[in-house]
Amino acid sequence: MSKKVILTGLRANNDLHLGNYLGALLPMVELQKKYAGQYQINLFVPDLHSFTTPIDHSKLYEQTMHNLKLFVAAGLDLDDQDTFIYRQSYIPAHSELTVILNSFTYMGELSRMTQFKEKSEKQDSVSAGLFDYPVLMAADILLYGAKYVPVGADQTQHVELARDIAIRMNNKFGDLFALPEPEKEQIAFAHQQTRLRIRDLADPTKKMNKSDDSGKGVIFLGDSPEEAAKKVMSATTDSLGKVAHDYEKQPGISNLLDIYEALGGDTKEFIGNEQYGPLKQAVAVKVKEFLTHFQSRQTKVDQVKLTAQLESSEKAMNNTAGATLLKVQKVVGLRAK
Ligand code: ADP
Ligand code: TRP
Repeated sequence: MSKKVILTGLRANNDLHLGNYLGALLPMVELQKKYAGQYQINLFVPDLHSFTTPIDHSKLYEQTMHNLKLFVAAGLDLDDQDTFIYRQSYIPAHSELTVILNSFTYMGELSRMTQFKEKSEKQDSVSAGLFDYPVLMAADILLYGAKYVPVGADQTQHVELARDIAIRMNNKFGDLFALPEPEKEQIAFAHQQTRLRIRDLADPTKKMNKSDDSGKGVIFLGDSPEEAAKKVMSATTDSLGKVAHDYEKQPGISNLLDIYEALGGDTKEFIGNEQYGPLKQAVAVKVKEFLTHFQSRQTKVDQVKLTAQLESSEKAMNNTAGATLLKVQKVVGLRAK
């Protein structure tokens, strides 16, 4: 029997940031280590998702290739036979399944998606691509029958929608798609209490985001370690004068505690402190150490091997995705049974 699948994607519309790393990439690498041999791991770049909001198209291809390298630098073991890395647009079944799923997804559902509401508010004109974003994401998940999808808090709603669409199609057509697990099981599987949401250092009321214009509160994985440490030192906090985990009243401090813990630090010694300086200092050192190590690993990635593995993964995943697509095409009446 084929192995159960753990799958996630990270867009390449800008350099990845610490939120992407801690919310999606690191959990994926940890799951791979833990479940090597038992699960199939799919880690891909959803390149078609990249321009659902405006980007500099001249940089996309290069950024995509760069991000694939980051997967390896983060510790993903490409020698594992059950691990696949790929670019979404190199597997046409993603696009084809999206067109089919579109007719089984409702405008109402898509209008309710928080990400759509938030992102469309920021733009003068909103593309149909942004509206349809979750359907393409559902295709990404359902083509491979992914059971677990490690993502940050902002993407939970989309994973649930993928599950809803699959249930709807299964009710109509029989046992068509394997279902991603419900949210509670997803979190338990990743040994999390909740999905992670790293906040912007300058404005901790919002999430750390790739498309942030100033980049002041965002730690990009390509930032120099010194520059990143400075961003931490100037993080916005509050005037309550007591270190505590309280997202409502102290989002900045809570964020620093989350970052420290996610990078392997022990926050106990800071809780209750009346000074914020030592916590900031400790987080700055941790971030600096992390980036120094991560960036040195990037220089050691074997590019030739990476490209060869990318191509063979894409070939294999075209077969898997093609088989699922054909099954769907048959039940909806596009192909002979
Ligand atoms: P962004 O939202 O910054 O453009 P992506 O949409 O490409 O990043 O997200 C890639 C992955 O990183 C997703 O699983 C997403 O949930 C996760 N992620 C993004 N921002 C954060 C954050 N601030 N904290 C935790 N996880 C995040
Ligand atoms: N939508 C995700 C994000 O922006 C990226 C993504 C695309 C994804 N397709 C996916 C994540 C499938 C998990 C599974 O963060």
